[in-house]
Amino acid sequence: MKSDLGEEKKLAAEFAVDDLIKKGLIFSGMKIGLGTGSTAMPAVRRLAERIKDGTLSQIKAVATSFQTTIECENLGIPVFSMNAREINGSLDLAIDGADEISPDKHLIKGGGAALLLEKIIAYNAGTFVIVADSSKAVDGLGIKFPLPVEIIPEARTSIIRRLESLGAKPTLREGVRKAGPVITDNGNLILDCLWEADENGRSPLNPAEMEKLINGITGVVENGFFTCNVPIVYIAENREKVQVR
Ligand code: A5P
Repeated sequence: MKSDLGEEKKLAAEFAVDDLIKKGLIFSGMKIGLGTGSTAMPAVRRLAERIKDGTLSQIKAVATSFQTTIECENLGIPVFSMNAREINGSLDLAIDGADEISPDKHLIKGGGAALLLEKIIAYNAGTFVIVADSSKAVDGLGIKFPLPVEIIPEARTSIIRRLESLGAKPTLREGVRKAGPVITDNGNLILDCLWEADENGRSPLNPAEMEKLINGITGVVENGFFTCNVPIVYIAENREKVQVR
């Protein structure tokens, strides 16, 4: 199953980049935001192939994480800051993965703890594109995959109390091969928040409302609900077919 999903990720990512080139949404000289995670990486690699074979030139990329910056450096894709003169705070398109996708294309992101830069990039992109394997489509958000919330360490306890009052069960994300909590690329902590399904087994949440409510808590830096820039979604149906939503 795991390797099937790996193949689906690669298929969706490569299909998306080729299709977006065909549709003129990825083009030479453009400013492109590049996502984080195991589905975004094959998209970054496909972009590098298209630069290498001469299909694309003069691409200016902004990376959503150290992972993506390093991959771009290895592949020779020029990386800029959002604040660089060449980027000037806005992008033509951003392409990224997601942890959950609802029927109205609201998302949970941040499984790789890169949600802050991912959202800055997604919300400042003219076109937002998601690439995903078939496991990411859900009926409602926040009851299976926990919502990541990036927080200032000093506010951990007060934020946990506020999140609990919003019905969430927050858990501090622990590091792997590192003692103690995960520290994000921005020096913050992550609380992973799960909600209980209602009596019909559905999500009780309105993600657009919850995105704003959570960001209103003092000490919250950002949360992983993405509802403000509705994406084009390339989602693998199986190892051979990609659906565009
Ligand atoms: C990174 O912080 C995330 O938002 C990823 O885009 C998301 O977790 C999807 O990751 P995979 O593509 O690895 O499943």
